[in-house]
Amino acid sequence: MNSPVDWPEPIVRVQSLSESEVPVIPDRYIKPPLERPTINSTTTTTTADAPRDDVNIPIIDLQGLYGDDDNLRTTILGQISEACREWGFFQILNHGVCPQLMDRAREVWREFFHLPLEMKQPYANSPKTYEGYGSRLGVEKGAILDWSDYYFLHYLPLSLKDYNKWPALPADCREVLDEYGKELVNLCGRLMKLLSLNLGLEEDILQNAFGGQNIGACLRVNFYPKCPQPDLTLGLSSHSDPGGMTLLLPDDQVPGLQVRRENNWITVKPARHAFIVNIGDQIQVLSNAIYKSVEHRVIVNSGQERVSLAFFYNPKSDIPIEPAKELVAHDRPALYPPMTFDEYRLFIRLRGPRGKSQVESLRSQNTYEFHNPRS
Ligand code: OGA
Ligand code: NI
Repeated sequence: MNSPVDWPEPIVRVQSLSESEVPVIPDRYIKPPLERPTINSTTTTTTADAPRDDVNIPIIDLQGLYGDDDNLRTTILGQISEACREWGFFQILNHGVCPQLMDRAREVWREFFHLPLEMKQPYANSPKTYEGYGSRLGVEKGAILDWSDYYFLHYLPLSLKDYNKWPALPADCREVLDEYGKELVNLCGRLMKLLSLNLGLEEDILQNAFGGQNIGACLRVNFYPKCPQPDLTLGLSSHSDPGGMTLLLPDDQVPGLQVRRENNWITVKPARHAFIVNIGDQIQVLSNAIYKSVEHRVIVNSGQERVSLAFFYNPKSDIPIEPAKELVAHDRPALYPPMTFDEYRLFIRLRGPRGKSQVESLRSQNTYEFHNPRS
């Protein structure tokens, strides 16, 4: 299964559609009724599906993690453990990344997307690597599309890092992004240790399973233009992140991210200068499903555009990822067969975001084999 070299049909920038001020969105962006944001629940039979504006994902203050108060450190580790098991999503405060750097990183991207189209077009991406300026995920002809444009670039491995594929404008863009990437790789490395300890493993086990220092790191910047009919579409369809762990820097003004919690979609209320952390499919696999990668999606609105930066921390792409042997026991067999991240991510790259169907399909395949040893 190889990635195709080009898109199946001409690319339309969602930003151009939005700026043309059409009163209705093209059919290509209209989601089937059950996927539309106004349907708050996947089943309509319970009474629990009223919008839950009173709920938010856990917010965890990391201050104290490296101090000398052991009780405080234990408390924080416990909060992270619970968030990973119960939510798959949490926000972190006092994470060590400079707030000015966070704000500038978001701002350079806002400036980039506001450049005239002809200055962005040279960075147009292809489905071969997805690097650059894009407007769709997946290569299925005639697919229903999401109401967003994006920019995708690589930090690690260094062999994939190519400044020529990063925007040249605004002038400080590359410098800011470099600094941002370094800080976030560092933060993810620290979080990996905490997750490893919380799983009852030595602190380096998860990182080593990812390939040690040879991990992958990339950035997807999402640009969600204003939408004249936000109730009919989504900025980003429901998906779980295929990689290891994601650090999301959301828009500081405009909400939009929704996280699935049983049959409800919870709209995340971002805390100032927090990062939103979420578990990806590869950590679900490594933890043998003790930690879950949780489905999420993005809604849009008619009044304001939204910018977010999703930083993906991934395993080295050609090593097999499977449940850590310490987390496999007779009464808890390995739920997933080994698979490299290269193989795994082809799925989303070909078919676009589709809930959790990828990681779940691996599981059923494996359970089937488990119960049918001769098949
Ligand atoms: C993503 C993502 C959420 C957002 O890029 O994978 O889930 O708020 N983004 O833009
Ligand atoms: Ni995501």
